[in-house]
Amino acid sequence: MRNKAGMSAPVLQLTPLGRWHKKQFLADGLVRRRAELASRSVASSSFQAPKGTRDIFAPQSTRQRTLIDLFADTVERANYGQISTPIFEEIGVFLRLGESTDVVTKEMYDFEDKDGRHMALRPELTASVVRAFVQHRPTLPWKVWYEGPQFRYEKPQAGRYRQFTQVGIEALGTSDPELDVEVISLAADFYQRLGLRDVTLLLNSLGDPTCRPAYLEALETYFRDRIGDLSEQSAVTLETNPLRVLDSKRPQDQPIIDDAPLMADYLSPELTEHFGRVRSGLDQLEVSYELSPRLVRGLDYYTLTTFEFAANALTSSQNAVGGGGRYDGLAASLGGPDTPGIGFALGVDRILLACDAEGTFPEPTTAPDVFVIDVSGANVALSLTAELRTAGFTADRAWDNRSMKAQMKASDRSGAPYGLIIGEDEVAANSVTVRDLRGDTGQQLVARDDLISTLLGLLDPK
Ligand code: HAM
Repeated sequence: MRNKAGMSAPVLQLTPLGRWHKKQFLADGLVRRRAELASRSVASSSFQAPKGTRDIFAPQSTRQRTLIDLFADTVERANYGQISTPIFEEIGVFLRLGESTDVVTKEMYDFEDKDGRHMALRPELTASVVRAFVQHRPTLPWKVWYEGPQFRYEKPQAGRYRQFTQVGIEALGTSDPELDVEVISLAADFYQRLGLRDVTLLLNSLGDPTCRPAYLEALETYFRDRIGDLSEQSAVTLETNPLRVLDSKRPQDQPIIDDAPLMADYLSPELTEHFGRVRSGLDQLEVSYELSPRLVRGLDYYTLTTFEFAANALTSSQNAVGGGGRYDGLAASLGGPDTPGIGFALGVDRILLACDAEGTFPEPTTAPDVFVIDVSGANVALSLTAELRTAGFTADRAWDNRSMKAQMKASDRSGAPYGLIIGEDEVAANSVTVRDLRGDTGQQLVARDDLISTLLGLLDPK
Protein backbone atom coordinates (compact mmCIF):
# COMPACT_ATOMS: atom_id res chain seq x y z
CA MET A 1 0.00 0.00 0.00
CA ARG A 2 1.40 3.50 -0.91
CA ASN A 3 0.70 6.87 0.73
CA LYS A 4 0.27 10.18 -1.16
CA ALA A 5 4.03 10.70 -1.34
CA GLY A 6 4.35 7.33 -3.04
CA MET A 7 5.91 5.76 0.03
CA SER A 8 4.88 2.34 1.15
CA ALA A 9 2.62 2.62 4.18
CA PRO A 10 3.72 0.44 7.09
CA VAL A 11 1.67 -2.73 7.11
CA LEU A 12 -0.01 -3.25 10.46
CA GLN A 13 1.33 -6.47 11.96
CA LEU A 14 -1.22 -8.19 14.19
CA THR A 15 -0.15 -10.38 17.08
CA PRO A 16 -1.80 -13.84 17.19
CA LEU A 17 -4.20 -12.48 19.84
CA GLY A 18 -4.89 -9.43 17.66
CA ARG A 19 -5.65 -11.73 14.71
CA TRP A 20 -8.01 -13.75 16.89
CA HIS A 21 -9.82 -10.54 17.97
CA LYS A 22 -10.12 -9.38 14.34
CA LYS A 23 -11.55 -12.75 13.26
CA GLN A 24 -13.93 -12.71 16.21
CA PHE A 25 -15.02 -9.15 15.36
CA LEU A 26 -15.79 -10.13 11.75
CA ALA A 27 -17.55 -13.33 12.83
CA ASP A 28 -19.71 -11.40 15.35
CA GLY A 29 -20.67 -8.96 12.58
CA LEU A 30 -21.69 -11.85 10.35
CA VAL A 31 -23.77 -13.50 13.08
CA ARG A 32 -25.52 -10.15 13.81
CA ARG A 33 -26.26 -9.63 10.10
CA ARG A 34 -27.65 -13.13 9.69
CA ALA A 35 -29.88 -12.69 12.77
CA GLU A 36 -31.14 -9.39 11.34
CA LEU A 37 -31.94 -11.02 7.99
CA ALA A 38 -33.63 -13.96 9.71
CA SER A 39 -35.91 -11.74 11.79
CA ARG A 40 -36.76 -9.61 8.76
CA SER A 41 -37.65 -12.70 6.73
CA VAL A 42 -39.88 -14.12 9.46
CA ALA A 43 -41.67 -10.79 9.75
CA SER A 44 -42.26 -10.54 5.98
CA SER A 45 -44.13 -13.05 3.81
CA SER A 46 -43.12 -16.71 3.51
CA PHE A 47 -40.18 -17.67 1.30
CA GLN A 48 -40.61 -18.36 -2.41
CA ALA A 49 -38.22 -19.94 -4.91
CA PRO A 50 -36.10 -17.09 -6.37
CA LYS A 51 -37.48 -15.32 -9.45
CA GLY A 52 -36.79 -17.28 -12.61
CA THR A 53 -36.31 -20.59 -10.77
CA ARG A 54 -38.72 -23.46 -10.15
CA ASP A 55 -39.21 -26.34 -7.75
CA ILE A 56 -39.45 -29.52 -9.77
CA PHE A 57 -40.95 -32.60 -8.13
CA ALA A 58 -42.48 -35.91 -9.16
CA PRO A 59 -43.79 -36.74 -11.68
CA GLN A 60 -41.97 -33.87 -13.55
CA SER A 61 -38.66 -34.66 -11.84
CA THR A 62 -39.02 -38.33 -12.82
CA ARG A 63 -39.78 -37.26 -16.38
CA GLN A 64 -36.67 -35.06 -16.43
CA ARG A 65 -34.51 -37.89 -15.11
CA THR A 66 -35.94 -40.30 -17.70
CA LEU A 67 -35.06 -37.76 -20.40
CA ILE A 68 -31.50 -37.50 -19.09
CA ASP A 69 -31.22 -41.32 -19.03
CA LEU A 70 -32.37 -41.45 -22.66
CA PHE A 71 -29.82 -38.80 -23.57
CA ALA A 72 -27.05 -40.73 -21.76
CA ASP A 73 -28.04 -43.89 -23.61
CA THR A 74 -27.98 -42.08 -26.97
CA VAL A 75 -24.53 -40.54 -26.58
CA GLU A 76 -22.89 -43.39 -24.66
CA ARG A 77 -23.63 -45.60 -27.69
CA ALA A 78 -21.24 -43.23 -29.50
CA ASN A 79 -18.63 -43.64 -26.72
CA TYR A 80 -19.07 -40.29 -24.94
CA GLY A 81 -18.24 -40.60 -21.21
CA GLN A 82 -19.92 -38.54 -18.53
CA ILE A 83 -18.12 -35.53 -17.07
CA SER A 84 -19.16 -33.60 -14.01
CA THR A 85 -17.51 -30.24 -13.33
CA PRO A 86 -18.07 -27.74 -10.50
CA ILE A 87 -21.14 -25.53 -10.65
CA PHE A 88 -18.92 -22.49 -10.06
CA GLU A 89 -15.55 -21.55 -11.56
CA GLU A 90 -13.16 -18.64 -11.49
CA ILE A 91 -14.88 -15.95 -13.54
CA GLY A 92 -12.00 -15.87 -16.03
CA VAL A 93 -13.12 -19.25 -17.39
CA PHE A 94 -16.37 -17.67 -18.58
CA LEU A 95 -15.01 -14.35 -19.82
CA ARG A 96 -13.89 -16.29 -22.94
CA LEU A 97 -17.56 -16.57 -23.91
CA GLY A 98 -17.25 -13.03 -25.27
CA GLU A 99 -16.90 -9.48 -24.02
CA SER A 100 -19.88 -8.37 -26.07
CA THR A 101 -22.20 -11.26 -25.23
CA ASP A 102 -25.20 -10.77 -22.92
CA VAL A 103 -24.17 -13.94 -21.09
CA VAL A 104 -20.98 -12.20 -19.91
CA THR A 105 -22.00 -8.56 -19.67
CA LYS A 106 -25.48 -8.86 -18.16
CA GLU A 107 -26.35 -12.35 -17.06
CA MET A 108 -23.46 -13.73 -15.01
CA TYR A 109 -24.13 -14.67 -11.38
CA ASP A 110 -20.72 -13.66 -10.05
CA PHE A 111 -19.53 -13.20 -6.50
CA GLU A 112 -16.45 -12.88 -4.35
CA ASP A 113 -15.76 -15.89 -2.16
CA LYS A 114 -14.54 -15.56 1.43
CA ASP A 115 -10.95 -15.38 0.19
CA GLY A 116 -11.74 -12.55 -2.23
CA ARG A 117 -11.60 -14.72 -5.38
CA HIS A 118 -13.94 -13.59 -8.16
CA MET A 119 -16.11 -16.61 -8.96
CA ALA A 120 -19.22 -17.21 -11.10
CA LEU A 121 -22.01 -19.77 -11.29
CA ARG A 122 -21.65 -21.45 -14.67
CA PRO A 123 -23.87 -19.97 -17.40
CA GLU A 124 -23.00 -22.94 -19.69
CA LEU A 125 -20.71 -25.95 -19.66
CA THR A 126 -18.47 -25.75 -22.71
CA ALA A 127 -16.00 -23.38 -21.05
CA SER A 128 -15.88 -25.55 -17.91
CA VAL A 129 -15.28 -28.71 -19.97
CA VAL A 130 -12.49 -27.04 -21.92
CA ARG A 131 -11.00 -25.74 -18.65
CA ALA A 132 -11.07 -29.35 -17.38
CA PHE A 133 -9.42 -30.50 -20.62
CA VAL A 134 -6.62 -27.95 -20.25
CA GLN A 135 -6.14 -28.92 -16.60
CA HIS A 136 -6.09 -32.73 -17.05
CA ARG A 137 -4.87 -33.14 -20.66
CA PRO A 138 -6.72 -36.42 -21.37
CA THR A 139 -5.78 -38.41 -24.46
CA LEU A 140 -7.37 -37.25 -27.68
CA PRO A 141 -9.93 -37.47 -29.10
CA TRP A 142 -11.77 -36.75 -25.87
CA LYS A 143 -15.53 -37.24 -26.02
CA VAL A 144 -17.65 -36.27 -23.01
CA TRP A 145 -21.30 -35.72 -22.13
CA TYR A 146 -22.89 -33.79 -19.29
CA GLU A 147 -26.13 -32.76 -17.65
CA GLY A 148 -26.86 -30.19 -15.01
CA PRO A 149 -28.08 -26.76 -14.01
CA GLN A 150 -26.85 -23.53 -15.60
CA PHE A 151 -27.43 -20.00 -14.33
CA ARG A 152 -28.16 -16.85 -16.33
CA TYR A 153 -29.66 -13.66 -14.95
CA GLU A 154 -32.19 -13.30 -17.75
CA LYS A 155 -35.65 -11.77 -17.81
CA PRO A 156 -37.78 -14.79 -16.92
CA GLN A 157 -40.63 -15.92 -19.18
CA ALA A 158 -42.06 -19.23 -20.39
CA GLY A 159 -39.10 -21.34 -21.49
CA ARG A 160 -36.54 -18.87 -20.18
CA TYR A 161 -35.31 -19.30 -16.63
CA ARG A 162 -32.50 -18.08 -14.41
CA GLN A 163 -31.69 -21.65 -13.48
CA PHE A 164 -32.23 -24.19 -16.24
CA THR A 165 -30.95 -27.64 -17.10
CA GLN A 166 -28.86 -28.60 -20.10
CA VAL A 167 -27.66 -31.91 -21.49
CA GLY A 168 -24.80 -31.79 -23.94
CA ILE A 169 -21.66 -33.27 -25.44
CA GLU A 170 -18.21 -31.93 -26.28
CA ALA A 171 -15.58 -33.64 -28.46
CA LEU A 172 -12.02 -32.33 -28.57
CA GLY A 173 -9.02 -33.26 -30.63
CA THR A 174 -9.94 -33.45 -34.30
CA SER A 175 -11.08 -31.12 -37.09
CA ASP A 176 -12.53 -34.01 -39.10
CA PRO A 177 -15.86 -32.78 -40.55
CA GLU A 178 -17.28 -36.25 -39.95
CA LEU A 179 -17.07 -35.46 -36.22
CA ASP A 180 -19.30 -32.43 -36.86
CA VAL A 181 -21.75 -34.82 -38.53
CA GLU A 182 -21.58 -37.29 -35.62
CA VAL A 183 -22.24 -34.52 -33.09
CA ILE A 184 -25.16 -32.96 -34.96
CA SER A 185 -26.76 -36.30 -35.80
CA LEU A 186 -26.61 -37.42 -32.15
CA ALA A 187 -28.74 -34.42 -31.16
CA ALA A 188 -31.15 -35.17 -34.02
CA ASP A 189 -31.34 -38.86 -32.92
CA PHE A 190 -32.13 -37.80 -29.39
CA TYR A 191 -35.03 -35.56 -30.42
CA GLN A 192 -36.32 -38.41 -32.53
CA ARG A 193 -36.12 -40.91 -29.65
CA LEU A 194 -38.16 -38.48 -27.53
CA GLY A 195 -40.80 -38.50 -30.25
CA LEU A 196 -40.32 -34.85 -31.24
CA ARG A 197 -41.18 -34.50 -34.91
CA ASP A 198 -41.27 -30.78 -35.60
CA VAL A 199 -37.70 -29.67 -34.92
CA THR A 200 -35.75 -27.75 -37.57
CA LEU A 201 -31.96 -27.93 -37.72
CA LEU A 202 -30.45 -24.59 -38.78
CA LEU A 203 -26.89 -24.77 -40.08
CA ASN A 204 -24.17 -22.23 -40.82
CA SER A 205 -20.39 -21.85 -40.99
CA LEU A 206 -18.86 -18.90 -39.16
CA GLY A 207 -15.39 -19.16 -40.68
CA ASP A 208 -12.21 -18.92 -38.66
CA PRO A 209 -9.62 -16.28 -37.69
CA THR A 210 -8.05 -16.49 -41.16
CA CYS A 211 -11.13 -15.47 -43.10
CA ARG A 212 -13.43 -13.87 -40.56
CA PRO A 213 -11.61 -10.48 -40.25
CA ALA A 214 -12.35 -9.62 -43.90
CA TYR A 215 -15.99 -10.54 -43.36
CA LEU A 216 -16.21 -8.52 -40.12
CA GLU A 217 -14.76 -5.53 -41.94
CA ALA A 218 -17.33 -5.82 -44.73
CA LEU A 219 -20.11 -6.25 -42.19
CA GLU A 220 -18.98 -3.28 -40.12
CA THR A 221 -18.77 -1.03 -43.18
CA TYR A 222 -22.22 -2.17 -44.28
CA PHE A 223 -23.81 -1.45 -40.87
CA ARG A 224 -21.92 1.86 -40.41
CA ASP A 225 -23.32 3.06 -43.72
CA ARG A 226 -26.81 2.41 -42.30
CA ILE A 227 -26.26 3.28 -38.64
CA GLY A 228 -29.00 5.91 -38.66
CA ASP A 229 -31.57 3.24 -39.51
CA LEU A 230 -30.36 0.68 -36.96
CA SER A 231 -31.97 0.40 -33.51
CA GLU A 232 -30.12 2.20 -30.73
CA GLN A 233 -29.07 -1.10 -29.12
CA SER A 234 -27.68 -2.47 -32.39
CA ALA A 235 -25.71 0.74 -32.94
CA VAL A 236 -24.08 0.12 -29.52
CA THR A 237 -23.48 -3.56 -30.30
CA LEU A 238 -21.80 -2.55 -33.57
CA GLU A 239 -19.05 -0.86 -31.55
CA THR A 240 -18.02 -4.14 -29.88
CA ASN A 241 -18.97 -6.88 -32.35
CA PRO A 242 -20.65 -6.33 -35.75
CA LEU A 243 -21.41 -10.06 -35.97
CA ARG A 244 -23.68 -9.80 -32.95
CA VAL A 245 -25.87 -7.23 -34.76
CA LEU A 246 -27.03 -10.15 -36.94
CA ASP A 247 -28.49 -11.66 -33.76
CA SER A 248 -30.88 -8.73 -33.20
CA LYS A 249 -34.55 -9.71 -33.16
CA ARG A 250 -35.73 -6.06 -33.22
CA PRO A 251 -38.10 -5.45 -36.18
CA GLN A 252 -36.36 -2.14 -37.04
CA ASP A 253 -33.10 -4.02 -37.76
CA GLN A 254 -34.57 -6.84 -39.84
CA PRO A 255 -34.58 -5.25 -43.33
CA ILE A 256 -30.96 -4.16 -42.85
CA ILE A 257 -29.90 -7.59 -41.55
CA ASP A 258 -31.67 -9.29 -44.47
CA ASP A 259 -29.37 -7.57 -46.98
CA ALA A 260 -26.14 -7.80 -44.95
CA PRO A 261 -23.06 -9.50 -46.44
CA LEU A 262 -22.87 -13.27 -45.86
CA MET A 263 -20.03 -15.19 -44.21
CA ALA A 264 -20.43 -17.88 -46.90
CA ASP A 265 -19.01 -15.43 -49.47
CA TYR A 266 -15.86 -14.96 -47.36
CA LEU A 267 -15.07 -18.59 -46.41
CA SER A 268 -11.62 -19.78 -47.51
CA PRO A 269 -11.57 -22.72 -49.99
CA GLU A 270 -10.60 -25.15 -47.17
CA LEU A 271 -13.46 -24.01 -44.97
CA THR A 272 -15.89 -24.13 -47.88
CA GLU A 273 -14.78 -27.74 -48.38
CA HIS A 274 -15.14 -28.48 -44.64
CA PHE A 275 -18.69 -27.13 -44.66
CA GLY A 276 -19.48 -29.06 -47.84
CA ARG A 277 -18.35 -32.30 -46.20
CA VAL A 278 -20.48 -31.59 -43.13
CA ARG A 279 -23.49 -31.07 -45.38
CA SER A 280 -22.88 -34.19 -47.46
CA GLY A 281 -22.38 -36.24 -44.26
CA LEU A 282 -25.73 -35.03 -42.93
CA ASP A 283 -27.32 -35.92 -46.28
CA GLN A 284 -25.74 -39.39 -46.07
CA LEU A 285 -27.32 -39.93 -42.63
CA GLU A 286 -30.60 -38.39 -43.84
CA VAL A 287 -30.51 -35.65 -41.23
CA SER A 288 -32.40 -32.78 -42.79
CA TYR A 289 -31.31 -29.19 -42.22
CA GLU A 290 -31.89 -25.65 -43.42
CA LEU A 291 -28.97 -23.39 -44.28
CA SER A 292 -29.18 -20.32 -42.08
CA PRO A 293 -26.49 -17.94 -43.34
CA ARG A 294 -27.16 -15.34 -40.63
CA LEU A 295 -27.10 -17.72 -37.67
CA VAL A 296 -24.43 -16.34 -35.30
CA ARG A 297 -25.36 -17.82 -31.87
CA GLY A 298 -25.04 -15.97 -28.58
CA LEU A 299 -21.47 -16.89 -27.60
CA ASP A 300 -18.24 -15.64 -29.14
CA TYR A 301 -16.09 -18.78 -29.22
CA TYR A 302 -17.64 -20.33 -32.33
CA THR A 303 -15.68 -21.12 -35.49
CA LEU A 304 -16.72 -22.99 -38.66
CA THR A 305 -19.81 -25.21 -38.22
CA THR A 306 -22.54 -23.72 -36.04
CA PHE A 307 -26.09 -24.98 -35.62
CA GLU A 308 -29.29 -24.54 -33.69
CA PHE A 309 -32.43 -26.65 -33.27
CA ALA A 310 -35.77 -24.82 -33.34
CA ALA A 311 -38.93 -26.52 -32.02
CA ASN A 312 -41.68 -25.20 -34.21
CA ALA A 313 -44.37 -26.09 -31.67
CA LEU A 314 -43.04 -23.38 -29.31
CA THR A 315 -43.48 -19.62 -29.65
CA SER A 316 -40.73 -18.32 -31.87
CA SER A 317 -38.94 -16.16 -29.26
CA GLN A 318 -37.99 -19.15 -27.07
CA ASN A 319 -38.07 -22.00 -29.56
CA ALA A 320 -34.34 -22.82 -29.57
CA VAL A 321 -34.22 -26.24 -27.92
CA GLY A 322 -30.50 -26.68 -28.49
CA GLY A 323 -27.46 -25.35 -30.23
CA GLY A 324 -23.76 -25.76 -30.68
CA GLY A 325 -20.82 -25.65 -32.98
CA ARG A 326 -17.05 -25.73 -33.35
CA TYR A 327 -14.83 -23.72 -31.02
CA ASP A 328 -11.37 -24.44 -32.36
CA GLY A 329 -9.66 -21.54 -30.51
CA LEU A 330 -11.17 -22.02 -27.05
CA ALA A 331 -8.63 -24.46 -25.56
CA ALA A 332 -5.74 -22.18 -26.56
CA SER A 333 -7.52 -19.13 -25.16
CA LEU A 334 -7.80 -20.92 -21.81
CA GLY A 335 -4.06 -21.55 -21.76
CA GLY A 336 -4.05 -25.03 -23.31
CA PRO A 337 -2.61 -26.47 -26.50
CA ASP A 338 -4.23 -25.47 -29.77
CA THR A 339 -6.98 -28.12 -29.89
CA PRO A 340 -10.08 -28.16 -32.07
CA GLY A 341 -13.41 -28.91 -30.44
CA ILE A 342 -17.11 -29.17 -31.18
CA GLY A 343 -20.25 -29.81 -29.14
CA PHE A 344 -23.80 -28.86 -28.36
CA ALA A 345 -26.06 -28.21 -25.40
CA LEU A 346 -29.80 -28.85 -25.35
CA GLY A 347 -32.21 -27.08 -23.01
CA VAL A 348 -34.06 -29.75 -21.03
CA ASP A 349 -36.79 -27.39 -19.76
CA ARG A 350 -37.61 -26.19 -23.27
CA ILE A 351 -37.47 -29.69 -24.75
CA LEU A 352 -40.08 -30.80 -22.21
CA LEU A 353 -42.28 -27.82 -23.16
CA ALA A 354 -41.92 -28.84 -26.82
CA CYS A 355 -42.83 -32.44 -25.89
CA ASP A 356 -45.97 -31.13 -24.14
CA ALA A 357 -46.85 -29.06 -27.20
CA GLU A 358 -46.39 -32.07 -29.49
CA GLY A 359 -48.08 -34.47 -27.04
CA THR A 360 -45.10 -36.79 -26.79
CA PHE A 361 -42.89 -38.17 -23.99
CA PRO A 362 -45.63 -38.00 -21.33
CA GLU A 363 -45.11 -37.76 -17.59
CA PRO A 364 -44.37 -41.22 -16.20
CA THR A 365 -46.63 -42.73 -13.58
CA THR A 366 -45.08 -42.52 -10.15
CA ALA A 367 -47.63 -44.60 -8.20
CA PRO A 368 -46.18 -47.45 -6.13
CA ASP A 369 -46.90 -51.06 -7.15
CA VAL A 370 -48.43 -51.90 -3.80
CA PHE A 371 -49.68 -50.10 -0.70
CA VAL A 372 -49.58 -51.83 2.67
CA ILE A 373 -52.54 -51.37 5.03
CA ASP A 374 -51.58 -52.72 8.43
CA VAL A 375 -54.27 -52.75 11.12
CA SER A 376 -52.83 -55.78 12.95
CA GLY A 377 -51.15 -53.78 15.68
CA ALA A 378 -48.08 -56.00 15.10
CA ASN A 379 -45.86 -53.69 12.98
CA VAL A 380 -46.05 -56.06 9.99
CA ALA A 381 -45.89 -53.14 7.53
CA LEU A 382 -42.31 -52.39 8.58
CA SER A 383 -40.87 -55.76 7.56
CA LEU A 384 -43.32 -56.38 4.69
CA THR A 385 -42.47 -53.13 2.84
CA ALA A 386 -38.74 -53.87 3.27
CA GLU A 387 -39.23 -57.40 1.87
CA LEU A 388 -41.25 -56.12 -1.11
CA ARG A 389 -38.66 -53.45 -1.95
CA THR A 390 -35.87 -56.04 -1.83
CA ALA A 391 -37.89 -58.13 -4.29
CA GLY A 392 -37.96 -55.12 -6.67
CA PHE A 393 -41.46 -53.75 -6.08
CA THR A 394 -42.16 -50.14 -5.17
CA ALA A 395 -44.02 -50.31 -1.92
CA ASP A 396 -45.50 -47.63 0.31
CA ARG A 397 -47.58 -47.78 3.47
CA ALA A 398 -49.77 -45.78 5.86
CA TRP A 399 -48.47 -44.27 9.08
CA ASP A 400 -49.57 -43.47 12.61
CA ASN A 401 -51.58 -46.66 13.24
CA ARG A 402 -54.63 -45.06 11.68
CA SER A 403 -58.02 -46.73 11.21
CA MET A 404 -58.72 -49.16 8.37
CA LYS A 405 -60.86 -46.51 6.67
CA ALA A 406 -58.13 -43.86 6.85
CA GLN A 407 -55.48 -46.30 5.56
CA MET A 408 -57.75 -47.37 2.68
CA LYS A 409 -58.14 -43.70 1.73
CA ALA A 410 -54.37 -43.25 1.79
CA SER A 411 -53.93 -46.29 -0.47
CA ASP A 412 -56.47 -44.88 -2.94
CA ARG A 413 -54.61 -41.56 -3.00
CA SER A 414 -51.31 -43.33 -3.69
CA GLY A 415 -52.64 -44.67 -7.00
CA ALA A 416 -51.21 -48.15 -6.27
CA PRO A 417 -52.99 -50.91 -8.21
CA TYR A 418 -52.90 -53.36 -5.26
CA GLY A 419 -53.46 -52.95 -1.54
CA LEU A 420 -51.97 -55.48 0.88
CA ILE A 421 -54.17 -55.71 3.96
CA ILE A 422 -52.94 -57.17 7.23
CA GLY A 423 -55.33 -57.46 10.15
CA GLU A 424 -55.35 -59.77 13.16
CA ASP A 425 -56.85 -62.63 11.08
CA GLU A 426 -54.11 -62.36 8.47
CA VAL A 427 -51.41 -62.39 11.17
CA ALA A 428 -52.99 -65.48 12.78
CA ALA A 429 -53.07 -67.25 9.38
CA ASN A 430 -49.59 -65.98 8.38
CA SER A 431 -51.10 -64.50 5.22
CA VAL A 432 -51.95 -61.23 3.49
CA THR A 433 -55.13 -60.05 1.75
CA VAL A 434 -54.27 -58.79 -1.74
CA ARG A 435 -56.93 -56.37 -2.93
CA ASP A 436 -57.29 -55.12 -6.51
CA LEU A 437 -57.73 -51.36 -6.07
CA ARG A 438 -58.28 -50.40 -9.69
CA GLY A 439 -59.78 -53.37 -11.51
CA ASP A 440 -62.63 -55.64 -10.56
CA THR A 441 -60.85 -58.86 -9.54
CA GLY A 442 -61.73 -58.33 -5.89
CA GLN A 443 -59.42 -59.70 -3.25
CA GLN A 444 -57.67 -62.96 -2.33
CA LEU A 445 -56.03 -64.31 0.79
CA VAL A 446 -52.42 -65.26 -0.02
CA ALA A 447 -50.02 -67.18 2.23
CA ARG A 448 -47.15 -64.94 3.28
CA ASP A 449 -44.64 -67.36 1.67
CA ASP A 450 -46.47 -67.12 -1.68
CA LEU A 451 -46.91 -63.34 -1.65
CA ILE A 452 -43.92 -62.39 -3.82
CA SER A 453 -44.69 -65.02 -6.48
CA THR A 454 -48.37 -64.00 -6.50
CA LEU A 455 -47.42 -60.34 -6.97
CA LEU A 456 -44.95 -61.28 -9.72
CA GLY A 457 -47.88 -62.84 -11.55
CA LEU A 458 -49.90 -59.64 -11.17
CA LEU A 459 -47.23 -56.96 -11.70
CA ASP A 460 -43.87 -56.33 -13.35
CA PRO A 461 -41.47 -55.21 -10.62
CA LYS A 462 -39.84 -51.91 -11.62
P1 HAM B 1 -26.83 -21.87 -25.77
O1 HAM B 1 -27.43 -21.67 -27.12
O2 HAM B 1 -26.52 -20.66 -24.98
O3 HAM B 1 -25.50 -22.70 -26.02
O4 HAM B 1 -27.75 -22.80 -24.91
C1 HAM B 1 -28.16 -24.07 -25.39
C2 HAM B 1 -29.63 -24.30 -25.07
O5 HAM B 1 -29.87 -24.09 -23.68
C3 HAM B 1 -30.57 -23.32 -25.74
O6 HAM B 1 -30.83 -23.71 -27.07
C4 HAM B 1 -31.81 -23.44 -24.87
O7 HAM B 1 -32.55 -24.59 -25.22
C5 HAM B 1 -31.21 -23.64 -23.49
N1 HAM B 1 -31.22 -22.37 -22.75
C6 HAM B 1 -30.35 -21.34 -22.84
N2 HAM B 1 -30.68 -20.34 -22.01
C7 HAM B 1 -31.81 -20.76 -21.36
C8 HAM B 1 -32.65 -20.18 -20.35
N3 HAM B 1 -32.40 -18.99 -19.80
N4 HAM B 1 -33.74 -20.89 -19.93
C9 HAM B 1 -34.01 -22.11 -20.46
N5 HAM B 1 -33.25 -22.70 -21.39
C10 HAM B 1 -32.16 -22.05 -21.84
C11 HAM B 1 -24.67 -23.10 -25.02
O8 HAM B 1 -24.94 -23.07 -23.85
C12 HAM B 1 -23.38 -23.70 -25.55
N6 HAM B 1 -22.56 -24.09 -24.40
C13 HAM B 1 -23.66 -24.87 -26.46
C14 HAM B 1 -22.42 -25.53 -26.97
C15 HAM B 1 -21.87 -26.66 -26.52
N7 HAM B 1 -21.67 -25.07 -27.96
C16 HAM B 1 -20.64 -25.89 -28.14
N8 HAM B 1 -20.74 -26.86 -27.24
